[in-house]
Amino acid sequence: MGNHGFFLYHMDNDKEKAKQAYLDERKGSVASFAPGRIEFLGNHLDYNGGMVMGAAIDAGIYAFATPTEGDDIRLFSESFEDAVVESSLAGFGRQEGKTSWANYCLGVLKVMQEAGLAPRTGFSLTFTTDLPVSVGLSSSAALELASALVLAQLAGQELDRKELVGICRKAENEFVGVPCGILDQATSAFGKKDHLVLIDCEKEDFSTLPLPPDTRLWVFDTGIKHDLVDSHYAKRHGECQAALGCLRESGHEINYLAKAKKEWITEDSMPENTSKRARHVINEQARVLSFREGLASKKEVNELGLLLNDSHESSSLLFENSCPEVDFLARKLQAHSEVLGARLTGGGFGGAVLAWTGTGFGPNDAEAIAKEHETQFDHLPSVHDFVPSNGARIKPGTA
Ligand code: GLA
Repeated sequence: MGNHGFFLYHMDNDKEKAKQAYLDERKGSVASFAPGRIEFLGNHLDYNGGMVMGAAIDAGIYAFATPTEGDDIRLFSESFEDAVVESSLAGFGRQEGKTSWANYCLGVLKVMQEAGLAPRTGFSLTFTTDLPVSVGLSSSAALELASALVLAQLAGQELDRKELVGICRKAENEFVGVPCGILDQATSAFGKKDHLVLIDCEKEDFSTLPLPPDTRLWVFDTGIKHDLVDSHYAKRHGECQAALGCLRESGHEINYLAKAKKEWITEDSMPENTSKRARHVINEQARVLSFREGLASKKEVNELGLLLNDSHESSSLLFENSCPEVDFLARKLQAHSEVLGARLTGGGFGGAVLAWTGTGFGPNDAEAIAKEHETQFDHLPSVHDFVPSNGARIKPGTA
């Protein structure tokens, strides 16, 4: 053995010292996780006060925060390595260009500061993710929720899930500037393994419903992200508001378009285009309610799946937020015998298609359909399958 024991003693000692130095450096650190989401049914209903269904998925964003002295803040994301944001608690502002990813986190910080819930000393915040990028799984909402959960921990505050949803939606509406509803944030917050999240967007009431066993969720991403997605979204938001305005002028005292009745939409009640948006919202709401009733009465999954197909037709023809690539995938999927239903999911104008399938649908089937899309459009869509999973949570840190 000779000096061996002596060396080992020193190595162990060095390891201990390194570990201690790491723990000292990370003292008071906290961590969180927030999942991405799939919009299952209820397209563009959330900001119209409707009921929507989503599923949190088994991939998301992890946040890790370490408190620092002074009031400096530093935000780093592994997905945007060359876009670190360094600022201060009192001096940060909205980011443009390559650091604009940080607006979701800074927006949350701002809203929490206004509510007296934010940390009062500086911090360093690091994000990492296992979400496929730009697939329309709402990484932005996951970033907001993961941020809010670590910031609250640093501030010694506890947020309930409803508060969490409210803070994150406000951040997105007011700081980021997207007039979204609460679908993304609420699904990420209230997700439950093997369940759908049912959100009453008017009452802000959240519950979960078991997804029928032996079914699976697949997302096919066309990879198309229209430059004007945000402005198209805002335009549809405006058209829905206009439809609501017309109905109110004709004496219908409702606060949300999703509460309107089909028979109120007559030829002379509003312009043709506006009436198409309104009919989509009203029919889509009826489909969500039918799906919920169908689940409760244990209706055949094949029959329930047809509601997803109808939703797609409505998005495509009435809400006009689809595109040829999304239509192609949805229709190919709908024609497959193991697919229960397929539809555009999320904001639209490109983006992704959801397929709800039986267990007989596998990677080979998915690949064959993706290849057909490639032959037609010269682009191979990315395909992902997900399991409905639990919602956002704090993770034990190293404090
Ligand atoms: C995007 C928005 C959501 C919702 C959907 C459409 O994902 O972020 O709030 O409006 O579009 O249903």
